[in-house]
Amino acid sequence: MKKFFKILGILLIVVIVLAGAGFTYLMVAFPKVSAAPEIKIDPTPERIERGKFLANSFAFCIDCHSDRDLNKFSMPVVPGTEGKGGMDYGEGAGFVPASNITPDKETGIGNWTDGEIFRAITSGVRPDGSFLAPMMPYPMFAKMDKEDLYSIIAYIKTLPAINNKVPEKKLKFPLSVIFRTIPSDVKEFGKRPDPSDKVKLGEYYGAACKFCHSPTDKGDFIPGKEFSGGVEFPMPDGTIIRSSNITPDKETGIGTMSKEIFLAKFRSCADVNNLDPKSRGFNTPMAWNFIAETASDDDLSAIYDYIMRQPAVSNKVEKLTLQGMK
Ligand code: HEC
Ligand code: HEC
Repeated sequence: MKKFFKILGILLIVVIVLAGAGFTYLMVAFPKVSAAPEIKIDPTPERIERGKFLANSFAFCIDCHSDRDLNKFSMPVVPGTEGKGGMDYGEGAGFVPASNITPDKETGIGNWTDGEIFRAITSGVRPDGSFLAPMMPYPMFAKMDKEDLYSIIAYIKTLPAINNKVPEKKLKFPLSVIFRTIPSDVKEFGKRPDPSDKVKLGEYYGAACKFCHSPTDKGDFIPGKEFSGGVEFPMPDGTIIRSSNITPDKETGIGTMSKEIFLAKFRSCADVNNLDPKSRGFNTPMAWNFIAETASDDDLSAIYDYIMRQPAVSNKVEKLTLQGMK
């Protein structure tokens, strides 16, 4: 019996040592990405304009990296705070504030090279080697066209510098370790579709729509459930809101929503003075106003054409849970 306990004790020590070694390995070996590329992006007026469009619409950079007015429907960006960071996107994973991405040299990214910014946005690693949490959707941006990413970088470098020190994130275990292993080199960037191919363009611009409207399992989309909604968003007022099923299912999705109504939903949010959440009965993380201010009807129509070609998925989503409302 004594011998048994001795062996058990040794085994336990071996397990602890191995786990310790594994943990040390994870902490030392990750994130594992190559050096930042040596690029110098020429900030042509075309690039700045294209970058401004993307960062203020379908790439959602300015939406996440600015103060948002919680008292207005769809929480529009507070003018003058573009890029300053600070809003928390941690949800269940801990505290993950958006970084200051203005060119401020002390608290923003004013000292980063173009290559370092590019690598952060697409591979999720800062110049000092530390990892970004995937609440910054860098795996999604890694599927964009390089040229579009260069345009976004050219544009964010024109933002007025704002001195705002954002605190470092605090992730819960084990996500603090798991997130460290996600950054990776990009194997193949996407290609900006020919604007005449509306469905392809809708797919390209609709990446973030898919991100919020598709259920996931361990960070991956569940095949066959894309766009079927039900993803939960805890709101600052304590309510929980779920993204809608936007597949063409006629009963539980938007199969009976005409293109005109689809466009009108965005257009009705274009005026910041007409965004009283009380009159709409709820508030939402979906940036209706942000999109409506920048995207054209043509862009949105392309997204509609793309979504309507996706398989219909029957999934009834209960939009709102008031429980816990403050
Ligand atoms: C859904 C919200 C969201 C969107 C959309 C988003 N970001 Fe972020 N971003 C974050 C968060 C949160 C962090 C901080 C992550 C961390 O600390 O691990 C971050 C970090 C960064 C960083 C690292 C800066 C630093 O000093 O840590 C850069 C650069 C950046 N984002 C640029 C962009 C650009 C450019 C876009 C658009 C192409 C974008 N982000 C879109 C949420 C977002
Ligand atoms: C930050 C997450 C988020 C993003 C990004 C997002 N949505 Fe949503 N969306 C929601 C949530 C949550 C709702 C339910 C509340 C509401 O109606 O605003 C919703 C509702 C909708 C509805 C209303 C459906 C109905 O039956 O009334 C449509 C249409 C829609 N989204 C389309 C889109 C499109 C198109 C995009 C991309 C341009 C997009 N969403 C991006 C979270 C998001």
